[in-house]
Amino acid sequence: MARHTDYAFRALCKERGADVMVTEFVQSEALLRDNAKAWEMVDFAPEQRPMGVQIFGAKPASMAKAARLVCDRLRPDFLDLNFGCPAHKVIEQSAGSGLLRCTPLLFDIVKSVRDAIPDVPLTAKMRLGWDADSIVAVEVAARLEQLGVEAIAVHGRTRAQGYSGEADWEWIGRVAAAVSIPVVGNGDLRDPAAAVERLRRHGVAGLMVGRAALASPWIFGDIRAALGGLPQPPRPGPAERWTTLIRLAELTLERAAQGPGERDVRWMFAKLHPLTQGLPGCRRIRNAIQRCQSLADLRRLADSHLAELTQQDISG
Ligand SMILES: Cc1cc2nc3c(=O)[nH]c(=O)nc-3n(C[C@H](O)[C@H](O)[C@H](O)COP(=O)(O)O)c2cc1C
Repeated sequence: MARHTDYAFRALCKERGADVMVTEFVQSEALLRDNAKAWEMVDFAPEQRPMGVQIFGAKPASMAKAARLVCDRLRPDFLDLNFGCPAHKVIEQSAGSGLLRCTPLLFDIVKSVRDAIPDVPLTAKMRLGWDADSIVAVEVAARLEQLGVEAIAVHGRTRAQGYSGEADWEWIGRVAAAVSIPVVGNGDLRDPAAAVERLRRHGVAGLMVGRAALASPWIFGDIRAALGGLPQPPRPGPAERWTTLIRLAELTLERAAQGPGERDVRWMFAKLHPLTQGLPGCRRIRNAIQRCQSLADLRRLADSHLAELTQQDISG
């Protein structure tokens, strides 16, 4: 997920049970311009494998060149094409979900990329269609399979829906039934038992979790337990939430230190913010985190908050 699933956040998710991960999307042209930020976005550590790198764009030749370059430089386990992003600045270039209303171009992109990287598994991520009157997921998936795409992730919303309403898992199931390559279902997975129920009911080969992981990176381990019929791990309490938040800050700083040597933690507030969900008094804690300048400040805040909670428990 753009601006969230960076190197550090992926490391955190892997530590907490994520199975297969994909980088945030990166524009093919930015990679071809050798834009340092773009290459940083798709970089990953060996322990994050199996890893896919996701690219987007609207020009078959640039997409093919960028795909080849990514595969040569990073050797990802698979290369993923984005046909799902609903953001205006992406669709106005006819990229992302904009390609779902221009499927001949979408198929040209897939053909070009497939030819450019015959040696690397190719996958795609898409929405159901442009809007409710033009749901094309089944037809597109069938053609992608013919073109040599090896797995497809389907977010059960149209572009017009953005993130509103509910993901339509009936449609995801129809796509899964129409092709013989694995289809991974995506959209609104929050509850582990319900996720497993969706996997079984709709015949998908896998589950993709997006937003829920931002506040609960434990969800991967929880879904894994539910899949194995094991009891749910205990809900993370405030101590575990703080440990995770500080771990993300550490990982983010470690990564930044490989660059220009960042030490201040204030800039990473947006990354830490979702992890405060579920902490008692989270609004006050968010304000306090915004005033932290260093990892030591964050650790002190965690200690004093946990001590305060213990005190409340004792006096309660
Ligand atoms: C902030 C944000 C950034 C996203 N960036 C990407 C992206 O770069 N590539 C992608 O395939 N999907 C992206 N998505 C979509 C998610 O992968 C996912 O399809 C969507 O959020 C629905 O799943 P969820 O309900 O589990 O979040 C993004 C979503 C959000 C909210």
